[in-house]
Order: sequence, then structure tokens, then C-alpha cells
Amino acid sequence: MIKIAVISDIHANKDAFLNVLNDINEFNPDKIFCLGDLILAGYDPNFVVQKIIELKEEMKENFEIIQGNTDKMVAYCDDELIQKTIESYPCMGYSLQDDVKITDKKYIDFVKNLPENKYVEVNGLKIELVHGSPRRQNENIYPDLTDSTVSEMVQDSLAELILCGHTHIPCGYSLNCSKTVINVGSVGRSMTKDRNAVYLRLMVDDEGSFSSEHRIIKYDNQKVINHILSRGLNRGEDLAKMYIA
Ligand SMILES: [Fe+2]
Repeated sequence: MIKIAVISDIHANKDAFLNVLNDINEFNPDKIFCLGDLILAGYDPNFVVQKIIELKEEMKENFEIIQGNTDKMVAYCDDELIQKTIESYPCMGYSLQDDVKITDKKYIDFVKNLPENKYVEVNGLKIELVHGSPRRQNENIYPDLTDSTVSEMVQDSLAELILCGHTHIPCGYSLNCSKTVINVGSVGRSMTKDRNAVYLRLMVDDEGSFSSEHRIIKYDNQKVINHILSRGLNRGEDLAKMYIA
């Protein structure tokens, strides 16, 4: 049996990440997969990326990571993208404007150089890691889609199991085409009703059959709200209230 912890969408939320890491330590996984969106809209991007780099160095080939859409936004940020984001989603735009200033250049380079997707094989089980969907880094795999909609999104994937994040809402599909899709949820900006952190425990047996469990992890949301408000961002209150259940 191979045990895998799958995390996504940490979004610079140190408190949520540390509590999730405690739970992952109890699980004692053989592997960790990270599906991107390490940064944007939290309060401690440097801590989160540094911790990820340490995990990667510690676990070597047993740590896999891909890039998320907000990692890409920070990595390729310019004035035009900031303006466009401020117009469409003001609190995110103002956060982006500041995040590129507070994130250390070496950490921006780290997320810039990550691949958009990755295939891995575990005990013969073919798994694809994506951020949004196999065809687009920012496509939403929500819980309320039809079998045919999700099947279309994953039809070009060569994997039996597709692991994704991006929407910040955990869900799963066992499709008629025999593929399985699991959205692992978000560590740092969960959009579930209770706003607790979510990650996935995945167990793959010797024959490549698998089972999984979404883990719901509490953290001090008020502390995170205070950290975000203390950044003094324009529209910072809008950003902070997303952490209230
Ligand atoms: Fe995200």
C-alpha cells in the first residue's frame, strides 16, 4: 500500500498549511503531491514556498508539484494584468499588486518554473496531476457538473485517475468512461461552508486499486483574517471576509 497526501491551493495561508502538515505527519505518507496555487491573496507567501521547497528536498522523487493559475499570475505579472484583475475582481487585483512586491524573487522564480501538469504512475495506476482540468489550468471542476461535461474535460487525459484543485471546493466523479476525477479542495482558501482547510489522503494498493478520503482540518480563521487585514490592502476587508464561515 502506498499512501499519498494531495494538497492544493495553499494561497500563502501559513496557519492553515501548518495545521494540514500536522495531519499529514500523522498520516505518514510515502508521497506528497501538490497541485499549485501556493501564493496570491494570503499573508505569508515566502513561508509557504520555502516550506514547499524544503518538503521537496526532503522527499526527493516522492514529492510532485505543478503550477497553479495564480502562481502563473504572480510569475508573469505586469501592470496590464494588475489593472485587468482590479477591474474584474478588485480585492484579488489589489492583492496581486502587493503580492508581487512582498514575495521574494527566488520564490517567484520557483513557481514560474513549475510544469502545468504531470503524469505519475503508482503501483501501475496512471495518475494525472492538473490544477484546473487536463485541458486548462483555470477550468473549474465543480461538484454539480454532469458526467458528460466532466468526461469532455478529461477526455484527452491518458490517466485513470485525475487529481485537480482550483475551485477550492472538494468533490469527486467516477465517470462512465471509467476515469475517476477528484478535486482535492483547498488548504488555504477553502470555499466550503465551514471554511476549514481540506486535503486528500489517497491510498493505492499493490494492484493499483485506490481509495481516498478528504480530510477537513480546522485552523484559527480569525488569526488569518487579522493577518490579512494588517496588510492594509485596498479592499482588504473583502479578501478577509472570505475566511468567515
Ligand atoms: Fe486557487
